[in-house]
Amino acid sequence: MKKKIAIIGATSGIGRALAIEMHNRGYTVGATGRRLERLQELKQQLDTRIHTQFMDVAELDDAIDQLNQLKKEMGGLDIIVLNAGVSNYQKESVGRQADLHVIDVNIRGFANLASYSFNLFEEQGHGHIVGISSVASLFGWGLNIPYNASKAFVNTYLQGYRQKANHSDADISVSTILPGFVESEMIKGKKDLFWVQETEKAAQQIGNAIESKKNEAYITKRWRLVGWFVKMIPNWMWNRM
Ligand SMILES: NC(=O)c1ccc[n+]([C@@H]2O[C@H](COP(=O)([O-])OP(=O)(O)OC[C@H]3O[C@@H](n4cnc5c(N)ncnc54)[C@H](OP(=O)(O)O)[C@@H]3O)[C@@H](O)[C@H]2O)c1
Repeated sequence: MKKKIAIIGATSGIGRALAIEMHNRGYTVGATGRRLERLQELKQQLDTRIHTQFMDVAELDDAIDQLNQLKKEMGGLDIIVLNAGVSNYQKESVGRQADLHVIDVNIRGFANLASYSFNLFEEQGHGHIVGISSVASLFGWGLNIPYNASKAFVNTYLQGYRQKANHSDADISVSTILPGFVESEMIKGKKDLFWVQETEKAAQQIGNAIESKKNEAYITKRWRLVGWFVKMIPNWMWNRM
């Protein structure tokens, strides 16, 4: 029997495309987000094996209740994809409040659901946590400071849970997905981007990484080269770029 997958942040971009991709592969899909009209559209489009749930990941306790509600409606969960995220790259809002908002969603919202999901999967004896990080996690960047740092948190946090999973009696997998640029509302209108991947193709590759339970996957693979390249640049040089 095909599995039950919840996608947190499935109202646009990568999350929405992944919801459609996994549905096409036969999964029962739970989709969350704040934009209810988008959830409704998705429900109408997919028709069967689709459940939707309002969720603002920054409302920590509510988000847990809402995840439980979704799980109950779906009759269980095998995979939870933590995709919800915000960036302030090339946005007008910069400064303390803008930084804190990114941290609230990408770090606190993420950790809240990731740690809860791990406990849930330990209790039920199996499960798969998938975190959507970014190639941006590999370096600090003056034009998007909280975003890059928040994605570095995602990598390290999930690495810790992956190690913990290996010491658990339960059969738990933890995958970190590192996309490069992917067409979505997040990068709409942004300048100087390269190797921008179509959303559907990115979703296909993420679907493959989920099914093969990859520990880590770059979307697309060539973005791994950027990771290597960046690590080779000495700090003194990076700081001046
Ligand atoms: N596009 C890229 O180039 C790229 C590259 C690397 C990594 N990523 C990562 O991929 C993930 C998806 O981004 P995307 O590019 O597909 O952008 P997007 O189209 O803007 O999608 C973001 C998703 O996150 C949800 N979200 C945002 N704030 C939320 C909140 N407070 N509570 C609940 N859901 C929230 C949005 O839903 P609602 O607004 O309806 O709540 C939406 O479904 C993000 O984690 C992003 O960092 C993107």
